[in-house]
Amino acid sequence: MKTVLITGCSSGFGLEVARHFLDREWRVIATMRTPREDVLPRSDRLSILALDVKDPQSIRGVIDAAGPIDVLVNNAGIGFLNALEGTPMDTVRDIFETNTLGTIAMTQAVLPQFRERRKGVIINVTSTVTCRPLHLLSVYTASKSAVNAFSESLALELEQFNVRVRVVLPGRAPSTRFGENAQARMKDGFPEPYSAIVQQIFANWQKETTVTHAADVAEAVWLAANDASSPFMIPAGEDAIEWYDARSR
Ligand SMILES: NC(=O)c1ccc[n+]([C@@H]2O[C@H](COP(=O)([O-])OP(=O)(O)OC[C@H]3O[C@@H](n4cnc5c(N)ncnc54)[C@H](OP(=O)(O)O)[C@@H]3O)[C@@H](O)[C@H]2O)c1
Repeated sequence: MKTVLITGCSSGFGLEVARHFLDREWRVIATMRTPREDVLPRSDRLSILALDVKDPQSIRGVIDAAGPIDVLVNNAGIGFLNALEGTPMDTVRDIFETNTLGTIAMTQAVLPQFRERRKGVIINVTSTVTCRPLHLLSVYTASKSAVNAFSESLALELEQFNVRVRVVLPGRAPSTRFGENAQARMKDGFPEPYSAIVQQIFANWQKETTVTHAADVAEAVWLAANDASSPFMIPAGEDAIEWYDARSR
């Protein structure tokens, strides 16, 4: 039986990925900052462990408790939308520590066992915002683009050990808690000189008809985990595929 460890399983994509693998007879280590037993179906193949990807001690603890794993899904992440002038440096650090350094630290923590067993898959969840520049997302996009670049280089380095790296790029998913969680970091509002562009961005979102669903991301992660011939980058969601194809043209 194969084992997957997923970060950020309290809601959204991480929760759906955990359900998807549980339904398909995998052993699932669902990690959350605040463990909750009531969000996933009970199973003797499920372990719910506490993990904050910003905390090295927490990472060590979870890797020790998890036992051997076959697939790591770096899904935990935080969002933020504002002009750079409205983005405190503490927020910039928080975004990079979670989205970028958290992913790198988790990857580093599983590598010795993957290398020794000459087997393993690392799946990093980034975003289609990395496919084209968007207003008000400079810091968030930078944090995810760094993971894309990190993953590309790492994939080369790990090929010799039969360890695969994949990047899953979801589109916009209004149904997860991502927007709500991001808003909690956006209490200071937008700087006044940017108000026209902010209004325009919000109005454009209302017009968008295609979105990403958590199930799209779960399927993309499943493909990345199970199909060695899957592409290095896998867009997840109808809007994500459109964006990704536009970038590739
Ligand atoms: N929704 C979108 O539109 C969208 C689009 C593209 C990419 N993404 C990416 O997809 C991933 C999942 O997002 P989502 O939409 O499912 O959002 P979500 O519902 O907000 O889920 C994010 C998860 O990350 C966890 N998390 C945050 N900081 C953490 C930390 N320091 N340590 C461990 N876990 C932490 C959250 O846990 P808590 O409950 O403890 O906060 C939560 O479980 C993120 O990497 C996000 O950047 C989202």
